[in-house]
Amino acid sequence: MIALENFFPTTIGKIKDLEFTNKVLEISNPILDDAPFNDRLGYKSTYLNETASRSLKAHKWINEYLIKISIQYLKKLSYRPNHPLIPDYFLSRSGKKTGIEPHFHPNSILSGVVYLYLECNDEAIAHPPPRHVLEFRDTRLGKYFNQLEPTLPDTIYNKRQVTFEPRIGDIFIWESYIEHSAKNLIWDRRDTLVFNIHI
Ligand SMILES: [Fe+2]
Repeated sequence: MIALENFFPTTIGKIKDLEFTNKVLEISNPILDDAPFNDRLGYKSTYLNETASRSLKAHKWINEYLIKISIQYLKKLSYRPNHPLIPDYFLSRSGKKTGIEPHFHPNSILSGVVYLYLECNDEAIAHPPPRHVLEFRDTRLGKYFNQLEPTLPDTIYNKRQVTFEPRIGDIFIWESYIEHSAKNLIWDRRDTLVFNIHI
């Protein structure tokens, strides 16, 4: 069942589902092996690659799963979608010291990332935290409303950012306007599926 991670004034959905991510990995591996390197991003991505997208989207169960968890997330937030949800998704494979600057995803209502595979070849640094950072930030408020009397320490109800260190099988889902960034610090290989949900 989906768990919620709150930060003011919004909420990130988080699920761990190794059965799903391992099943996707069987399909994503050959697609990513052949995927082009995206110079702008600095890593491999099937974003805007029609051939790769067609191979990936031939598997209808991925679509169904993404719709299922999106409805779960919306219901947990007390929304009841009145329109069909239409997922769009792509794969990425990045290496050590890559990442993406803070950004958000326009033209969709929900966005998410599925951690398919993480690999570190250097055994000497097997457990130094953190290996990878996924950070979400709410940019709607310039300053706290009660900035003259700040409530410290931050609680889940007033903090404006939240950071995760994702592992294989982790799935995150959020409202598309939420700014986020990712830094792969030491994983030699990091495969993800990124999705957007349109109505
Ligand atoms: Fe993103």
